[in-house]
Amino acid sequence: MDKLPVVGQPLDLSPEELEAEIKRLKVEKNAVILAHYYQESEIQDLADYVGDSLQLSQAAATTKADVIAFCGVHFMAETAKILNPHKIVVVPDLSAGCSLADGCPAPAFAKWLEKYPGHTVVSYINCSAEVKALSDVICTSSNAVKIVKALGDQKIVFAPDKHLGAFVAKQAHRPDLVLWQGTCIVHETFSERRLIELMVKYPEAEVIAHPECHEGILKHATHIASTSGLISYAAKSPKQQFIVATEAGILHKMAAAAPGKTLIPAPPEDESCACNVCPFMRKNTLEKLYLALRDLQPQVDVPEAVRVRALKPIERMLAMSV
Ligand code: 13P
Ligand code: SF4
Repeated sequence: MDKLPVVGQPLDLSPEELEAEIKRLKVEKNAVILAHYYQESEIQDLADYVGDSLQLSQAAATTKADVIAFCGVHFMAETAKILNPHKIVVVPDLSAGCSLADGCPAPAFAKWLEKYPGHTVVSYINCSAEVKALSDVICTSSNAVKIVKALGDQKIVFAPDKHLGAFVAKQAHRPDLVLWQGTCIVHETFSERRLIELMVKYPEAEVIAHPECHEGILKHATHIASTSGLISYAAKSPKQQFIVATEAGILHKMAAAAPGKTLIPAPPEDESCACNVCPFMRKNTLEKLYLALRDLQPQVDVPEAVRVRALKPIERMLAMSV
């Protein structure tokens, strides 16, 4: 390949060349590409593994690759690094954050926890390594109910997603869960008013939703699950039409898993806004993935003292999820 650009110069590669280069670099660097369902479809199509947050952590925990190219947001890549301190973990865009993780800074979280002595700290994986280090067990949207139920009658604080927390409290019959008041900017903006309009227009459609949605959306859903849970449900349900209340990137794999079915993205209140697309997830592009593999930059790093403390609650979650 004689077209390798210098760092800082625009890439002069066609989409086909870019794809071929990514595949070549993957072999050369013994890299694995992990991608979340909210990534651009071109990235999902090139990934070795596409999954929800739990599946991606499980894949990161077992990979034999030397390099993990993590196409998702920062907390996901950080989790991979916590599990693999001796591997190189690169991300296409280091600034791909998350409103849930960013809205729960570790110093404020530590101070808040002081109000709840004797509580078990259950943190959603959408948080920083420092917040994980302050937690007893991590959960994802696919195992949160199971993990809270497994804790029996222990007093629990749940952070940082108040909507997922409220959903878990209801499912696990734990109205006493103490919730950090964080939200996902994508799931927060779905409009109940516009959802009802769609339900009237498509009376046969089933509403399926991610538990990061607020109650105004969840109360209309016949199935609430993680991204992978929503995809498998759309595939197996006898219904032919679905209104899908989660980030629109999921529609790519959902359409492949449920061929011929009609998938209608749930709408945000503002018709002119693409608010059902996560601006953090979409910072990653094929070009940035190529550069990350070529230069092995930017890398995700976690200070060892934090990593060691954050590892325990992640391992506890993985052990409770088999
Ligand atoms: P899951 O894929 O685990 O359902 O998580 C959704 C999400 O918001 C990731 O940021
Ligand atoms: Fe965070 Fe929401 Fe984006 Fe997921 S969709 S990364 S929870 S902001």
